[in-house]
Amino acid sequence: MGYNNAKMNIPNQFDVLIIGSGAAGLYAALCLPENWQVGIITKDTLKTGASDWAQGGIAASIDPSDSPQLHLEDTLKAGAGLCDRQAVEFLVNHASEAIASLVELGVAFDRRGDQLAMTLEAAHSRPRVLHAADTTGKAIVTTLTEKVLAKPNISIFPQTLALNLWLEENQQNCQGVQVLYGNRLEWIKAQGVILATGGGGQVFAQTTNPPVSTGDGVALAWRKGAIVRDLEFIQFHPTALTVPGAPRFLISEAVRGEGAYLVDDQGDRFVFNYHRAGELAPRDVVSRAIFNHLQKHSNNPAQAHVYLDLSNIPPETIRHRFPNIIKVCQHWGIDIFHQLIPVAPAAHYWMGGIATDLNSCTSIPGLYSVGETASTGVHGANRLASNSLLECIVFAAQLAKLKINPSNNLTRETTTREIRADFKRDLEIVAKIRTELPVLMWQSAGICRTGTRLNQALLKVSQWRQDLQKQPLTEYIANSQPTETLVFTAPEAINQIRLYGETLNLVDVAYLILKSALFREESRGGHYRLDYPETLESWQVHTLIQGDRLFSN
Ligand code: FAD
Ligand code: SIN
Repeated sequence: MGYNNAKMNIPNQFDVLIIGSGAAGLYAALCLPENWQVGIITKDTLKTGASDWAQGGIAASIDPSDSPQLHLEDTLKAGAGLCDRQAVEFLVNHASEAIASLVELGVAFDRRGDQLAMTLEAAHSRPRVLHAADTTGKAIVTTLTEKVLAKPNISIFPQTLALNLWLEENQQNCQGVQVLYGNRLEWIKAQGVILATGGGGQVFAQTTNPPVSTGDGVALAWRKGAIVRDLEFIQFHPTALTVPGAPRFLISEAVRGEGAYLVDDQGDRFVFNYHRAGELAPRDVVSRAIFNHLQKHSNNPAQAHVYLDLSNIPPETIRHRFPNIIKVCQHWGIDIFHQLIPVAPAAHYWMGGIATDLNSCTSIPGLYSVGETASTGVHGANRLASNSLLECIVFAAQLAKLKINPSNNLTRETTTREIRADFKRDLEIVAKIRTELPVLMWQSAGICRTGTRLNQALLKVSQWRQDLQKQPLTEYIANSQPTETLVFTAPEAINQIRLYGETLNLVDVAYLILKSALFREESRGGHYRLDYPETLESWQVHTLIQGDRLFSN
């Protein structure tokens, strides 16, 4: 079993190094050849990530009434003209194979009789969402984790943070990663590096994402010149629990799929005033409907909420389908059998990411990306519910085709330098940014955006980026040489470096989101501009950024 803890040394080279232990990273590891030495590093515990929190399920057209063609059409429609058709075809055509593989590995999806049970979610024309109660992600991650732990060629390093990519100077191919491991900043060499770091919801004050979702993969790849795509497209989930003091716990769309209503404080099913599909309209539509309704009808829209009314769903179905939602709501004083659940939109999923092809290759040779951090083109401007777990599995599976030359790994000499400093002074600016940035982003790049607010936010974020560049820690992270290991002796330094590294990433992804959102002078999917409310054919293009260059195609 390869589950190492942080007290052990980390090898300084692997054949393939995977950053992140969500569904994408774990499944990728299982698909790689067993004669390769594979490392998985993950910045928290093994199971901390959005995958473990996924509720509603995983989409696949396996019901006899359904077909990949219908799944394709629904995905393209939700994507609002920006999906890459070839990538979506690839996704839907590989869906049943992905599910078969998960079932074979042992994922216990719910069944109706001896058939896999399926539910409906918004904008799906057929019930095609497979689930394991309301903890589908946990069922998948638990099974994948067991399988990964049983593989002797895979070693896992929790509490290990990737801070920088190592690019070979002349060829510009990726050949490793700089990590914070215990109190050491080390460079690990690998023939292939797979970024599977998940989303970036923590850049917004209101998010369903776990604390680890700080956009690290996008920031690391962009800083080294990878092409990133469509970063303005953020999916705001309509129904996050909104109770003072509680995190924005997701109340799954499957709850509406099973028949729950969205009502305002007058009991009015107001979403029908905004879209004829009502509660099951696409997510961006429902989130904007709630946002606009609260702007019109509430004295304090920032704190306001609407409600989910489950009285229409048989109690037995609620008990069977939503045991975790029952438990969490109970914890916050809400009995969902008899009370309405207060909900409001929150940042949930990042459609954009590191541009990848059908083989999960990025624009940097040797660097691959899978899962939410990648932009494969399947989600376009707006993801169809439950397509992202599927994307993790289908695109991670393509890494089985990865070609490397394991024998290229050579013995590597490194020197060690001790750093005694602690970085309390760097942390003053970091603490300020961590408090203010998510609020600024929620207000300026949230559900409804304007050019004026985006510009003001961009000025502020650019200033913070400059402030961070001046801090001594930037020197160690950005400019340390791959021949050198830095050992930090001050006990506080580890947490300081971690906080600093994540903040550097958050300001960079905020900068990229704002730049992209300003560039796109129209509204489409998860990007809505009050000053450009129309969807324009001339904007049916992707937003791409490479270094300082922003362009479209
Ligand atoms: P994650 O599962 O987030 O894993 C990322 C991993 O990378 C983590 O292990 C993290 O610790 C690690 N990491 C990050 N940065 C670093 C770094 N710098 N160094 C080292 N490690 C790092 N999608 C669906 O299809 N169906 C659903 O029902 C569904 N429900 C959802 C419910 C919630 C509450 C949320 C938040 C999302 C949901 N989604 C759902 C979306 C889906 O869960 C995610 O898009 C998907 O799980 C992402 O998987 P991933 O492997 O890319 O990332
Ligand atoms: C949910 O259960 O509502 C989330 C599903 C998803 O994000 O795909």
